Amino acid sequence: MKYSEYSTVVIGSGAAGLYAALKIAQQINLPEGLLLITKSTLGESNSRYAQGGIVGVVHQNPADKVSLHVEDTLKAGAGLSKKETTEYISAVSDEVLNDLINNGVDFDRDENGNLTFTLEAAHSMKRILHSGGDATGKGITDALVRAVRNNNNIHVMENSMAVELLISSDKVCKGAIIYNEMTGEHEIVYTSALILATGGVGQVYKYTTNPNGATGDGIALAYEAGAVIQDMEFIQFHPTALALSPDSKNRFLISEAVRGEGAKLINKNGEEFMSRYSDKRELAPRDIVTRAIYSQMNIDHTPNVFLNASIIEQSKLLKRFPTISSRCKENGIDITQKPIPVAPAAHYTMGGIKAGVDGRTSIRGLYAIGETASTGLHGANRLASNSLLECVVCAYELADYLSFANLEIPKMIDSGIKKMIDVYSRTVKGKEYDYNALKTRLKDIMWNNVGIIRTEKSLQIAKKAVEILKKDFKRQRKCLNKGEYEYRNMLSVASLIIEGAIERKESRGAHCRSDYKQTDDVAKHSELCKIS
Ligand code: FAD
Ligand code: SIN
Repeated sequence: MKYSEYSTVVIGSGAAGLYAALKIAQQINLPEGLLLITKSTLGESNSRYAQGGIVGVVHQNPADKVSLHVEDTLKAGAGLSKKETTEYISAVSDEVLNDLINNGVDFDRDENGNLTFTLEAAHSMKRILHSGGDATGKGITDALVRAVRNNNNIHVMENSMAVELLISSDKVCKGAIIYNEMTGEHEIVYTSALILATGGVGQVYKYTTNPNGATGDGIALAYEAGAVIQDMEFIQFHPTALALSPDSKNRFLISEAVRGEGAKLINKNGEEFMSRYSDKRELAPRDIVTRAIYSQMNIDHTPNVFLNASIIEQSKLLKRFPTISSRCKENGIDITQKPIPVAPAAHYTMGGIKAGVDGRTSIRGLYAIGETASTGLHGANRLASNSLLECVVCAYELADYLSFANLEIPKMIDSGIKKMIDVYSRTVKGKEYDYNALKTRLKDIMWNNVGIIRTEKSLQIAKKAVEILKKDFKRQRKCLNKGEYEYRNMLSVASLIIEGAIERKESRGAHCRSDYKQTDDVAKHSELCKIS
């Protein structure tokens, strides 16, 4: 098998992976260089589709304070956010966002050149920077892709997927097995710092705002390798995804910023209903708005409610939300005139690989940043636009940590690793699975039983059904193609979500159990680890 060695290997090219690669290459002398591996093309990721913006407690917005942002984050997190982590991330946001600007990210400004800030649900003030109106993710990833392509120390490997982590018998991560989709071959990369920036698990659900690549690969790989996985039961369902028909499954997001600018939720009769669910109405925390919409849909027996944005002044609406207005227009909806059909969809993974702000995990040599990691910032329910902030702050802190680390490539490959590698030189027996049909089956199970409201009965049904799917899928390690690997990983993260949800016998933030409605007095993180 082909093999290569790099001082650092970054897996994933969303905001977290791109920015980590850039900062490491800018700051550290890497004798063997840095390899950035990504499953699709460079920059294709959840990050690319981010709309509303990125939180920054920046000096350009003097009315804001770290303490206010921390308070909002902790409140939304329903008692589970880690205070010190939140304070740390908030405090360095000014330095990191201004570094992003220096690296070419253009945030929207007013006619005098001053940054403009917007409001989203559960924020006590306008503090969200945005780009291209409602195309913040594209603004950030385009700039970072340009900077990465221009940096000679970064080698890029596209259409390639990490499929297994190489862990030595003394439990150190030494590299990964990579499946190269273009050649159909498996390759080995050795490194002293392997960084997972592989994003979340939205594709495990039937309805999601996430693009196809969000199959939880990094979490599944880290779990198999023996890393500690935290809080997987906390899946955030965004309240307002465009719901054109029950067949539209990857759902286009209608940003929370539309509600931040004044749009109202209405039912099938055109009546506003949010005051029945929260005194903060449309700007209540995301989990509350999602459950309110879900209840309203059940009361009215409708597959969606509506978001009325036509009450926002027309020129402001079109200028602030060019992507949303043009996508709706393509589907026959003029948002200045007509309400938008919306329904909740799986959006964000609060749990993931347990990691510090500098990306360190429970395995030496393995780092996790961005949505694939769980630092404790988001607690049980993420505050809007805190995710992109966490991606870039953790990438920045990781680069800083690695600048003091020993990045020599491991020379001795032990017998444990040799055995792992051997599997990939053998031929896979059996014919290709219909992985699209299998993924659809799994997504239905998760949506119907492990969704917005859960019960012991629904979770046990899901557990049994996923166990059967796992038994029927005979591949354990080497698979035939990308689709099979993704399905294997989806089965693995589905089990982690179900297990966490069964164990958590309370309702907190995004985890809502109709059979355990109470919130426990003490908030505890859940942890799952294959190897104790
Ligand atoms: P991603 O951006 O998902 O990147 C993961 C990368 O890893 C991808 O390049 C993927 O191809 C690659 N990858 C995955 N598995 C493998 C593998 N096995 N091998 C190789 N490569 C792999 N958050 C905000 O803060 N503000 C917003 O306005 C906002 N809007 C959003 C709108 C939408 C539609 C969505 C879906 C999310 C939004 N979020 C927002 C959430 C936020 O965008 C994500 O949480 C964040 O971008 C995650 O970044 P990441 O770099 O961790 O992962
Ligand atoms: C949105 O624009 O509503 C998404 C913001 C987020 O997920 O933080």
